[in-house]
Amino acid sequence: MAQQRINVQAPIERLFAKRWSTRAFDAAKPVSAEQVASCLEAARWAPSCFGAEPWQYLVVDRFYDAASWQLVLDALAPKNQLWAAHAPVLIVTTTDPIFPHNGKTNRWAEYDAGQATQCLCLQAESLGLASHQMGGFDSAALSSALAIPENLQIMSVTALGYVADLATIDADFQPMEAASRTRKPLSEIVHNGRWGTTYSPPAAAGWEARYQETSAEQLPWFYPELDADFARTLTDRSLNRGTALDLGCGPGTQAVALAKMGFSVTASDVSSSAVASARVLAEQEQVDIHCTVDNVLDSQLHGSFDLIIDRGVFHCFPNPNDQQAYLNSMAQLLAPDGLLLLKCFHKDETSEMGPPCRYNEADIHRFFANGFELIESRDSYFGSPDCEESPKALFSILRKA
Ligand SMILES: Cc1cc2nc3c(=O)[nH]c(=O)nc-3n(C[C@H](O)[C@H](O)[C@H](O)COP(=O)(O)O)c2cc1C
Ligand SMILES: C[S@@+](CC[C@H](N)C(=O)[O-])C[C@H]1O[C@@H](n2cnc3c(N)ncnc32)[C@H](O)[C@@H]1O
Repeated sequence: MAQQRINVQAPIERLFAKRWSTRAFDAAKPVSAEQVASCLEAARWAPSCFGAEPWQYLVVDRFYDAASWQLVLDALAPKNQLWAAHAPVLIVTTTDPIFPHNGKTNRWAEYDAGQATQCLCLQAESLGLASHQMGGFDSAALSSALAIPENLQIMSVTALGYVADLATIDADFQPMEAASRTRKPLSEIVHNGRWGTTYSPPAAAGWEARYQETSAEQLPWFYPELDADFARTLTDRSLNRGTALDLGCGPGTQAVALAKMGFSVTASDVSSSAVASARVLAEQEQVDIHCTVDNVLDSQLHGSFDLIIDRGVFHCFPNPNDQQAYLNSMAQLLAPDGLLLLKCFHKDETSEMGPPCRYNEADIHRFFANGFELIESRDSYFGSPDCEESPKALFSILRKA
């Protein structure tokens, strides 16, 4: 089964994330009458304007009534027939454009039928079935072949069935099945307060979504050992005691490594799922770490840390106010003479993927000019320097003045 990777900007129910319009139906696997009934029942409970429930459905199942199923298939656009021919069930959505209570035009009839059918599709998804709605069909042919009353508008035909193994489907459809699903960003489809005023979802929601969607080991920044730049700095300076904060700890690998060295570690992240996985890792590795949810831009942490490590957090903040909030937190959380080990994307890193900000030594010098001493900045990599895909990084050692 093709895995549809999506990039969500806030956590959503798995059902919404998982549903997609497959073209890979398993022709040999029937859908049970009970499953079809559940899908139709979900549609039945959709909301509608004036409670008119303007939708009516026609269901054809190749395993029970091949002749009717063939009539619906024949009315589909030729391109749709190519893949819909493998779907065991086809469901025609119709809607009544007239309100029954007053005989006037129901201008929400199409809207209501659409949301009822989406309920049907989501119920199918929850049952482990796949669905694919189609607008490509010959409405007149459908009406006459299946005796659909002329006063009803035919809105769509939905294919229903089980997803087939990708290898078994037509080669033309394989790339579509494997492709990532994309959507316009929320900032393009939502207006905030006044039309035209940009909406941005909270960044924390995006991080939480990311950790809910992806297992720790598959995250591009996952690094099981202590980052080589951190390790070298701590060894060179014979540092292995005192209090340490792993800021934006993510899966917690860095925090665990510091705890194993002998530091008394706090691991914080804005994502509760990240903190939960850091906690699990600490338990597995039998080290004692204080894991807590905290937003560095409005930190509620108390403490005066001898060491703070930031592996890939500062470069997430393009907004100057956020950068200032970050600096304030660092000044507040570091003990006098405490060290901040900061690793971010390098300005020379040109890949589109990755954080919004990239820095060079001069940038870091300028940002941390007040209250910090830049001891060293050096060019480095995230991950192994031997791997071509490793992003270029800038590693800096800063001391609180
Ligand atoms: C009303 C409607 C009509 C559609 N018509 C067709 C169609 O005729 N053929 C097709 O292959 N997909 C059709 N689609 C599927 C869309 O292309 C698909 O939903 C969209 O690309 C988003 O992909 P996703 O459903 O996988 O998220 C239709 C979807 C809707 C809601
Ligand atoms: C690139 S990841 C790096 C994770 C971890 N440091 C590592 O090396 O595996 C950036 C991390 O910063 C966290 N983060 C982003 N914004 C944050 C904020 N405002 N406060 C705390 N953590 C934040 C994200 O949730 C994410 O875990």
